[in-house]
Amino acid sequence: MKRLDKKRRQLLGHIGGFAGVSILSPASLLVAYNTEAIAADDKRAMLRQRITNAPFDVAFRLRAEPDTVPILPGAPSEVWRYTAALTQGPRDTLSSLSGSYPGPLIRLRRGQRVRARLENRLPEDTTVHWHGLHVPPDVDGQPRLPIKPGEDMTVTFDVDDRAGLYWYHPHPHGPHGGRVGFQSYAGLAGPLIVEDDTERALNLPAGDQELILVLQDRTFAGDNELTFVGGMRSMMRGFFGDRVLVNGHPPTTREVGTRPYRLRILNGSNARIYKLAWSDGRPVTVIGTGGGLLAVPEQRPYITLAPAQRIDLWVDLSDAKVGDQLTLVSDAYHSGMMGRYSGLPAGARFDLVPLRVTRRTDNGPPLPKALAPDLKTPPTTPATPIRTFDLRMEMMRGFSINGRQFEGAVVADDEIVTLGDTEIWEFVNHSMMPHPMHVHGLQFAVIERKKIGASPGWSGLDVGLVDAGLHDTVLVLPGERVRIALTFADFEGLYLYHCHNMEHEDNGMMRYYRVRSRHSRM
Ligand code: C2O
Ligand code: CU
Ligand code: CU
Repeated sequence: MKRLDKKRRQLLGHIGGFAGVSILSPASLLVAYNTEAIAADDKRAMLRQRITNAPFDVAFRLRAEPDTVPILPGAPSEVWRYTAALTQGPRDTLSSLSGSYPGPLIRLRRGQRVRARLENRLPEDTTVHWHGLHVPPDVDGQPRLPIKPGEDMTVTFDVDDRAGLYWYHPHPHGPHGGRVGFQSYAGLAGPLIVEDDTERALNLPAGDQELILVLQDRTFAGDNELTFVGGMRSMMRGFFGDRVLVNGHPPTTREVGTRPYRLRILNGSNARIYKLAWSDGRPVTVIGTGGGLLAVPEQRPYITLAPAQRIDLWVDLSDAKVGDQLTLVSDAYHSGMMGRYSGLPAGARFDLVPLRVTRRTDNGPPLPKALAPDLKTPPTTPATPIRTFDLRMEMMRGFSINGRQFEGAVVADDEIVTLGDTEIWEFVNHSMMPHPMHVHGLQFAVIERKKIGASPGWSGLDVGLVDAGLHDTVLVLPGERVRIALTFADFEGLYLYHCHNMEHEDNGMMRYYRVRSRHSRM
C-alpha cells in the first residue's frame, strides 16, 4: 500500500511537464497547507470587504478543494472540485448541478454587481476564469495572477453580458506548462448562467423543462480513480477519456413530459468534439450559442460542439406518446486520428441524454419565431483591418500561433490592439488538428469560414458548425480559414487568446494580447 502511494506521488509530481499517467488518489491530494496563512488571509479579506463597501447585489465564496464523490458504482472517486456559499443575493444564485463533482450552477442577472471570494485549498496554484464574460483583466483569472495554496482572492465585477450559458474554470500556467487541463479534468469547472429581461419575455422552457448539461469524458482506473494521461500523444491530440459523463455521472435516462424542452449544453471536455444529434434523425433546433440567443432559430442535421463551446437547443415533445424515447447522441465522424488511444475514440458514436416520455403534460408555449432581433454584432466595413493568426504544428513542441508559444505576460508588437476598435481576426489552420480558438474578455461574430487547404481524414463535422450569433470560441478545422469580427470595448490591459483544446493550450498554444487606449504610450 505504502509503495503504491509513493509511486502515485511521484506520478503527480511529474504531470507539470511531459507526464505519464497520473492518478488522483488520497496520497497525492492530501498535502498539508499552512493554516496560519489562511487565517492571516481571512483577516486581509475582511479588511478588504470593509474598504470595499460598494453595494453588491450578489456575494459568494467559491472554494477549490480536494473531495471525494461517487461517480461510478462502487468506490467513490477522489476529485478536485468547487464548493460555494452565498453570502448575499437571490437564493437561486447558487444551486447544485448534480451531486457529483461539477461546480455549482451560478445564476446571475445582467446589471448585478458581484463580489466573489475565491479560496484555494488545493496543493498548487490556481485561478478562477469566468469564461465568456466581459470583465476587467484583473478579475479574469489569468495565469499572471495566481492564487497560492491556502490563499484567497476577492474579485468584483459587474454583469454586463447577454443572457446565456457561460462557465468558470481554472487557468494556471507555471514554468513547466499549463494546469488548465489537469485541474479541470480533476473536476474544477462549473456552469454560469446570465439572465436578462429580454430573454425572460420570450417565455422559454424553464424550471425542470430547462436541462443544463455539462459533457466531459473521463478515464477511471481500478478503484474508480480518475486517471489523466499526459505525454507526447496528449500534447498532440489532447486528452481523450474512455467514457463520457453528463454532469459528472454516466448518462442516465431522464423522464420528461409531452412539451417543449430547452437543453443548454456545455462541452467541458479537454479535447473531445461532440456531434450532437437526435436518435430518430429529426433535425436539431438551435436557439443560442456561447454568446446568448440567436436572432432566429436555426435547424441542422447535427451540431458540432468543440471544447469550451456552449449550445442552446429547443426540442418539442408535444407529439410524443407516453413510453416514447428520444436520445441525444454524439454521432460518428472521421477524426483523422490514427491509432487506438482511448476506449472511446474521437468520432465514436455514443448516447448522451436519453429522454423517456413518462407523462402527458400541458404543451407549453411554442418556439418564438424571433428570439433576439436586436442582436448586435461588431460592425465591419471594407476598411476594417485584418490581423492574421497562423496555427501550426511545431516539431516536438505542440502547436504555435504565428510561430510563437506562450511566454507569460508579454505581448509582441502585433498583439496590441486599440481600445474601442473593431478588427477582423483570421485564424488559418495549417495543422492536422482542429483548434477551438478562444478570445478572452469579449464575444465575437464569425463572419467567414473558408476551405484553403486539405484536411486529411477530418470529415462529417462541417454541416453542424453554427456560426450565427455571438461566440467566444470558434472551431477552426484543419485546412480552414475562419474570420471573426471583434470589438475591444471598455477595458484596457492584458487578455488571453488561445486554443481551448486544453492540452494544446497547456503546451503553449496560448498568447496574451493587450488592449491599449489610443492615447496611452504603454
Ligand atoms: Cu475557458 Cu482561457 O479559457
Ligand atoms: Cu476564457
Ligand atoms: Cu488546438
